[in-house]
Amino acid sequence: MNRRKKQSKKETTRERVALITGITGQDGSYLAEFLLQKGYRVFGLMRRSSSFNTARINHLYQDPHDPDPRLQLVYGDLNDASSLNKILRSIRPDEIYNLGAQSHVRVSFDVPEYTAEITGVGTLRLLEAIRDSGIHPKFYQASSSEMFGKVQAIPQNETTPFYPRSPYGVAKVYSYWITVNYRESYNMFACNGILFNHESPRRGETFVSRKITKGAARIKLGIQQELFLGNLESRRDWGFAGDYVEAMWLMLQQEEPEDFVIATGKHYSITDLLDIAFEEVSLNWKDYVRIDSRYYRPAEVDLLVGDSGKARKKLGWEPRISFNDLIRMMVKADLEEEIQKNHGTQGLLGDKPFGGKWVPAYSGAELESVSPFSR
Ligand code: NAP
Ligand code: GDD
Repeated sequence: MNRRKKQSKKETTRERVALITGITGQDGSYLAEFLLQKGYRVFGLMRRSSSFNTARINHLYQDPHDPDPRLQLVYGDLNDASSLNKILRSIRPDEIYNLGAQSHVRVSFDVPEYTAEITGVGTLRLLEAIRDSGIHPKFYQASSSEMFGKVQAIPQNETTPFYPRSPYGVAKVYSYWITVNYRESYNMFACNGILFNHESPRRGETFVSRKITKGAARIKLGIQQELFLGNLESRRDWGFAGDYVEAMWLMLQQEEPEDFVIATGKHYSITDLLDIAFEEVSLNWKDYVRIDSRYYRPAEVDLLVGDSGKARKKLGWEPRISFNDLIRMMVKADLEEEIQKNHGTQGLLGDKPFGGKWVPAYSGAELESVSPFSR
């Protein structure tokens, strides 16, 4: 075997190390699972919290006393450059996935400066830490369809101009361009994944999809009487988070760094989402949903729908779970969760729709079977 061949064999068999910021979030948890299954050693950057915030990754947790833990959590913050520098120097990752962010659009109007610090300048801190540490990892930036905001074309693709409509969207545009700038200035392998909305049973409970699926489950079980929402007219291109983390990884396996739109190409309104969720529990949402103006945004994004033709062609990526199946999966998971949480509270469920004799129609195992990781 000549030297070049030997080298490339060594490269392909070498253990790969990934760092994920935002590992405790929805995408971080799916990505950690995905990379562990691919044989990576995974480090997750996590910020200190006074209460536990690792619920989404507890099933992956390994005791740090284990002689060879595949997943390790390290304290750090996108607001703290010194922590980023230290972490990069010590773990020397091959791939970095920057998923950490203040990711709630409505909240970004309440905390615009903090959102700019973390969701915007946080990316710059990480890119600078890469330069300072002298390592050459591949870098993934979690860019967002929210950057298209007041859309300039339908559907949106990699060449559509940005027109952000929130402090969150503006911060993401900064991160997008600083990633491009570091790619061009310093020859970094840095990619933007422009991801459209993606959801799952692990979605944060204040995003509209999860708020609705959880609300439908709780109303069905008699735990909640009403569901307060904002604008029901906006339309989004919703996919499954498990499908989308695969696209992140595929972007970093390409020969050249490029930016990709990841989307399903279909769009639905909030009322479509309500129809599916409440149909799953055999109720009519119009009997339970109330409008509360506090959930409206100062500036709204009316329609997002992506054209992921480039990703389909170059990455061979495509979404596997339909909107209908996604929302049903989320309602089933929320029913399970609420039943487990309220187990033993006979008074609560006793005189409610199922007369306290609720037998879950869907076991955890069945829910798992729709996960791409068990297929
Ligand atoms: P998420 O569930 O809200 O997770 C955000 C993560 O960022 C959490 O782990 C959070 O930690 C962490 N974080 C927040 N502030 C931080 C800080 N100062 N330093 C370090 N970490 C911090 O969001 P997601 O849905 O998984 O989305 C992942 C990324 O993709 C985000 O950047 C989001 O903006 C972007 N994105 C999401 C979508 C989508 O539809 N889901 C679409 C496009 C782009 P805690 O657990 O401590 O809060
Ligand atoms: N959160 C929320 N809560 N949204 C509501 C509600 C409500 O009670 N009622 C109506 N909506 C509408 C919002 O006004 C918005 O038009 C739509 O539902 C979706 O809101 P979210 O689920 O909060 O998501 P988002 O589209 O604003 O942002 C998400 O997707 C982006 C990608 O496009 C987040 O995950 C961002 O981090 C991500 O970048």
